[in-house]
Amino acid sequence: MTMASNAGQAGDLLLSVEDVDVGYGHVGVLEGVTLSVRRGSIAALVGRNGAGKSTLLRAISGLLTPSRGQIVFNGRAISRDKPHAIVGAGLLHVAEGRRLFRSQSVDDNLELGVYGLKMDAAGYQRRLARVFELFPVLEEKRRLPAGALSGGQQQMLAIGQAMMREPVLLMLDEPSLGLSPLLVDQVFAAIMALQQAGTTILLVEQLVERALEIASEAWVLQNGRMIASGPAAQIAASEELRAAYMAAH
Ligand SMILES: Nc1ncnc2c1ncn2[C@@H]1O[C@H](COP(=O)(O)OP(=O)(O)O)[C@@H](O)[C@H]1O
Ligand SMILES: [Mg+2]
Repeated sequence: MTMASNAGQAGDLLLSVEDVDVGYGHVGVLEGVTLSVRRGSIAALVGRNGAGKSTLLRAISGLLTPSRGQIVFNGRAISRDKPHAIVGAGLLHVAEGRRLFRSQSVDDNLELGVYGLKMDAAGYQRRLARVFELFPVLEEKRRLPAGALSGGQQQMLAIGQAMMREPVLLMLDEPSLGLSPLLVDQVFAAIMALQQAGTTILLVEQLVERALEIASEAWVLQNGRMIASGPAAQIAASEELRAAYMAAH
């Protein structure tokens, strides 16, 4: 096991998406989209439903291939790489909706997080302890099937499973969706704790104001185009941008 992939100076660009077009078959969704994430930071990607946020995360994680432009992660072009190679490079994506093995235990799901990695028992226990430290409820329920957990606990398990790989960059798609306010607080606290421990985060969140509070930079997507970016506090203060990212009521 090596931490070499974490090398690099805090603040340099860990991820850059350069002028990409992405779609599904012949249906274009993203056009000329650019985004970057500084190492060690939390970046927020905001935009209304259907703006293309999840599509962009799918392209970064290799589930979709851009028809134009490139994506560079940790100094390496990944735009044509397969998802497993991108995971191997330390870029993890916790997709919208939780993809857990519902009939398997919490412990088993966490173990699946390190699938294919070589590590000794002590290394494994250390990773497990970090997950349980952030999400104590998972330790209490470790022998239960994942499907028996509440929605919020399943979201914690999905994040915990990704944490087991000690990602360099963690992309979270709507982690608070469907959670009670108390669980939302826990998930946001965990995201901040992860960043403090050195993980870079790209966060897509429908609770835009909360996301902008913990992010340093924000990117605003509208109808498949990136219409603004800047310090999160500035984006939060802009009345004009608010209309672009807040859900219409
Ligand atoms: N699997 C898919 N096949 C075809 N079109 C899709 C698919 N997923 C999303 N889209 C379309 O892509 C656009 C962006 O969707 P999405 O990336 O899910 O937006 P967001 O995550 O910002 O809500 C929408 O118009 C949506 O209908
Ligand atoms: Mg989405």
